[in-house]
Amino acid sequence: MIKAALIAGARPNFIKIAAIEHAFRSSGKFKNLLIHTEQHYDARMSDIFFRQLGMPEPDLYLGVGSGSHAEQTARVMTEIEPVFIDHKPDVVVVVGDVNSTVATALTARKLHIPLVHVEAGLRSFDRTMPEEVNRIVTDSISDMMYVSEPSGRTHLLAEGHPEERIVFTGNVMIDSLRRFQSKAAATAEHTKRGLNENEYFLITAHRPAMVDVPENLTIFATALLRLADQAPVIFPIHPRTASKLASLDIGKRLENHANVHLTGPIGYLEFMCLMMHSGLIVTDSGGIQEESTALLKPCVTVRPNTERPVTVKEGTNELMDLDAAAIIDAGRRALSGGWKKGRVPELWDGKAAERIATHLADWLSPGPANS
Ligand code: UD1
Ligand code: UDP
Repeated sequence: MIKAALIAGARPNFIKIAAIEHAFRSSGKFKNLLIHTEQHYDARMSDIFFRQLGMPEPDLYLGVGSGSHAEQTARVMTEIEPVFIDHKPDVVVVVGDVNSTVATALTARKLHIPLVHVEAGLRSFDRTMPEEVNRIVTDSISDMMYVSEPSGRTHLLAEGHPEERIVFTGNVMIDSLRRFQSKAAATAEHTKRGLNENEYFLITAHRPAMVDVPENLTIFATALLRLADQAPVIFPIHPRTASKLASLDIGKRLENHANVHLTGPIGYLEFMCLMMHSGLIVTDSGGIQEESTALLKPCVTVRPNTERPVTVKEGTNELMDLDAAAIIDAGRRALSGGWKKGRVPELWDGKAAERIATHLADWLSPGPANS
């Protein structure tokens, strides 16, 4: 059995690791060591995902919590290093682009443990995004890179990574979506909240560039107020965003608007149900661009760039500047049925983690050719 340390730290990680944990366990070839850094720790940002996604209780919790980038990254490194020394995993698997990902990668690399990055090669080419730095650093020291869309492979080759370390396996986020789609539909969350199919807007926002700059958050909130004149708006608020919105006058106006439903972060199944039945999703999330594409649902990503270009080229995602008029117009287009139809990208078929398990088990046996 291959002892695989699987690292989960923040909300999007849980969804990706759930697919990998399940596929590794089902293959009978891996013994998983599930490590939760606790970068995200609130019940609604963490526990609920483990429960709903059928994951076992983590073997270890690192208690990292919130902090500046340096604090959080350093804490993951100092907490995870003794774990790796004690448990001696055969391989470390990191996903995505959060601080827990890069911190774990640096630690594993320096202990000479084979390092695997799932969702490698994505690039926004915007180094003001902390995630872009995390992606570049993680890929630069990974032994094996599994990519979710063709652009990932192109970027890694352009950066000089050898062909044999890059494998296009598809999207593990979509594995979880497909596995839990019918359970999500069964929650009937939209109906419970009094929302009609295709007649409401679902909103998320948490990028520092959007929510940490009061002028930008104000423009976004203005757009939401105007969208609410067209149809109900439901906005599950990320903890980073909650305090920022509460300090702005426009936050009160959102709270008081009869057609705006503000709520804390909601569970994976309920959120997916809301996505499946929405008229339009407006977001700055990475994962939601992919999920909306897989669900063929109209999505506006309020960002100047995306590291997930297949969602725009093939999917239902549209990039949009932070411009209230453009967002309101998108609302009108989506409600009138005038949105592009999109198609599901190659290998977003629910089997990406299975392909990773098969490839990784072969690659690690009899021993990896890592440097
Ligand atoms: C992190 C990731 C981001 C990802 C997002 C997913 C980094 C650099 N950023 O951003 O890439 O898109 O997660 O949601 O890794 N907080 C709580 N409870 C929690 C967690 C956080 O209240 O359980 C609050 C704290 O005030 C914290 C703030 O949210 O300071 C931000 O949390 P943090 O993990 O630093 O970054 P995110 O914005 O969540
Ligand atoms: N999500 C959720 N509840 C919410 C908001 C989001 O379950 O209230 C899910 C959603 O499926 C999304 C995932 O959490 O794909 C990760 O989202 P987030 O936007 O936090 O992270 P990112 O993908 O931008 O890194």
